[in-house]
Amino acid sequence: MALLDILEYPDGFLSKPVLPVTGITGELQQKIDDMAQTMYHAPGVGLAASQVGLNQCILVYDVSPRDENRALHVLINPRIVCQEGEILSEGEGCLSVPDYRSDVIRYSQIRVEGCDRDGKLLVFDAEGYLAIVLQHEIDHLQGVLFIDRISVLKRNLYKKRIKKRLRQS
Ligand code: NI
Repeated sequence: MALLDILEYPDGFLSKPVLPVTGITGELQQKIDDMAQTMYHAPGVGLAASQVGLNQCILVYDVSPRDENRALHVLINPRIVCQEGEILSEGEGCLSVPDYRSDVIRYSQIRVEGCDRDGKLLVFDAEGYLAIVLQHEIDHLQGVLFIDRISVLKRNLYKKRIKKRLRQS
């Protein structure tokens, strides 16, 4: 297994939608395992393929609070087929948007369709924190970052800060 480099805003790859997966190969599963290792190492609760420069519709997540209860989930070609309600995602953050957090309004309940690591079809409902994590990661696969879902004012303040930092480095 290998740790993958996590792309950071303003890398243009993060704002492009990825391509759907058309076939599951051993090579692809190896990449999925690398994504999982990268997520745990970061550490993060979710990682989308676009964050590691992979143009494939894949995400991994694990919202278990402690290492000893690890429960890795893989979703290939995930999509939200139903969504309702509203929840405030407090202080949402992202491995690709370092040193920044903001509240984001998310759907409180979603139904997700996708395939697991072996290509088996999954359909399930998620609510609360899990629903937030899944919306965040599925957004990534469509080229959307959480800072695209906050006010223009806040987003511009963040962009200014990043530009300043890039000038200084
Ligand atoms: Ni993220």
